[in-house]
Amino acid sequence: MDYSVKGITFTRDQLELVRLSEIVENSISSGHLFTFVKERPFLLLRAGDFVDQDFLEKYQARGVESLYILKVSSEQDLRKFKSLFTKFKTSKTELEKRRVKDELIKVFADDFWKHSDKSFLSFVQACFEQFYNLPEEVVTSLQDSSTTLYSRALLSSSLSVMNCVIHSIHDLNFVSDVYNAAFLMDCSLGMKEDFSYFLKVACEKERSVPGDGIAFLRNRSDLDELIKFQEHPNLSADLATKYSESFFNPEVSELIRFHHERADGTGFPNGYKYSAIAESDTLLMFGDYVTPFEEHIFKSSDGKEIVKENFMRLLRQVEKSQLPIKNSMDLWQQAMKWAINIGTLDQSEVA
Ligand SMILES: [Fe+2]
Repeated sequence: MDYSVKGITFTRDQLELVRLSEIVENSISSGHLFTFVKERPFLLLRAGDFVDQDFLEKYQARGVESLYILKVSSEQDLRKFKSLFTKFKTSKTELEKRRVKDELIKVFADDFWKHSDKSFLSFVQACFEQFYNLPEEVVTSLQDSSTTLYSRALLSSSLSVMNCVIHSIHDLNFVSDVYNAAFLMDCSLGMKEDFSYFLKVACEKERSVPGDGIAFLRNRSDLDELIKFQEHPNLSADLATKYSESFFNPEVSELIRFHHERADGTGFPNGYKYSAIAESDTLLMFGDYVTPFEEHIFKSSDGKEIVKENFMRLLRQVEKSQLPIKNSMDLWQQAMKWAINIGTLDQSEVA
């Protein structure tokens, strides 16, 4: 029998039983969790949702011993990425780090550029486990306030990790800071209050054609909304200062202020010109512009769509819009091309 619950389609045979005690607290769920009431499935948690203590305690208190899971990510892929991050972290020499970088790019390109049968969730889980340093209240309040902002935070921050790797940034503390800054970059749009429908429309318009989001809100003549949108890089960066202890280098959170600036001075909130935007200031932009403003429902084969297809869409618009990420886009293309053409890495080249 086929079921369809909140955009998730599955058969009963695809579900597995998972004991409550096996679900890891403070982690990202590897699948959609269901319970059945009178033969009808009820979705309790989506793949990618944060599993907090309250969730587990609620069902423990009811005497529930197990739930049904529709697995999305692969345990094997999660282990693969986690071990690559560990290798990166424990590499002692610059040469070793460079080899791990190549290995990571190779695996990432095979899984999310070349093939179309992998879920991006495995990478998202590995990044969250390795790099998320913010208090639990950030992830839970973002998740409670907006599924769109939450899933975008997961995707864009994970893409920011790879953007650092592709930029040859080998300092994992810095990578962690970029991950957490990316997680926070749009938090002021909805963490404290609802992420309004019109703001969401403006965000997607701005992402698709830079300048269109601002124009859309100007036409609506809602000054509060316009200011909230135009100032969100500063407001989010100000919020991030509250979490400065979560950063190895708190100044990295200042990059949030730049994620909507453009080389021709038409960006916001400050309208910086080209010479005021360094390459490092653009590190958060890549994940932000690649990831659509919509709720993402993780699937077992969504990796290529999230990475390659969204990248190709962005590539077509970067030429036209003069976004200051042309260099990043070139680096990504070179890295992906190299990784796919190389076949397998020579074992002497593997760290
Ligand atoms: Fe933004």
